[in-house]
Amino acid sequence: MKNIDLNRIPSHIAIVMDGNGRWAQAHGVPRLAGHNAGMLAMKNIVRRCGQLGVGHLTVYAFSTENWKRSAEEVGGIFRLLILYVERELAELHKNNVRVSILGDYEKLPADAVSSLKKALKKTAGNTGLHFCIALNYGSRDEITQACRRLAVKAKAGQLDPEDITADHISRHLFTGEEMERVPDPDLVIRTSGEKRLSNFLLWQSAYSEFVFVDTLWPDFTVEEFEKAIIEYQGRERRFGGREQK
Ligand code: IPE
Ligand code: IPE
Ligand code: MG
Repeated sequence: MKNIDLNRIPSHIAIVMDGNGRWAQAHGVPRLAGHNAGMLAMKNIVRRCGQLGVGHLTVYAFSTENWKRSAEEVGGIFRLLILYVERELAELHKNNVRVSILGDYEKLPADAVSSLKKALKKTAGNTGLHFCIALNYGSRDEITQACRRLAVKAKAGQLDPEDITADHISRHLFTGEEMERVPDPDLVIRTSGEKRLSNFLLWQSAYSEFVFVDTLWPDFTVEEFEKAIIEYQGRERRFGGREQK
């Protein structure tokens, strides 16, 4: 196998961490045990990203559509999230990781919100890996909110509708100015064999490279993660132009 080229590490990697439920089913354990195993897999990937010098890692942890699941599963996912923050915050901070949240996370239960706020506050000044957790995130919701904010500015006479560009929209997304403009993801990985975006970073992934793997998220290892980066490094990105000779 080719080695990873440390000089061409993607600046932003986004992951749809899918397959926890099927993993649990395959192991004959409750779904929440699958989510717990998924959390452990995530921990390893975050650590590896820091070591590799990845600038931004965004993980899809809970979508705006995931509320359709049972109250037991949804509540369990949030409890696991609190546990993750409590167990990992010290190490994340020690490793200079800056934590951010993408999405309307204030609609989560109050104890989850306060634990996340603690993580945001503690790591706000860190300069290493930017670890973005997409929580109660949905791209359509994000784009709708951006449009609404632009419409409010237009109505107030601060912005001429004729002047609205794609850049205005980018700047008003959750990944926009509030987050010092996270670059678009270079690489989007989805585990578990599903080949769809499920409302994740629709606008931002316009020119991303996609790697789909069959592995269920709890089984996704650092080795497989590096394999995905190597595959990315072998791709030719054209952005609509001609190949570079
Ligand atoms: C992904 O695993 C985690 C969340 C959506 C929270 P799933 O729970 O979707 O696992 P599958 O797709 O049912 O296997
Ligand atoms: C996407 O996975 C959301 C997360 C991984 C958090 P889902 O399992 O919810 O997506 P669908 O329902 O298979 O499209
Ligand atoms: Mg799923």
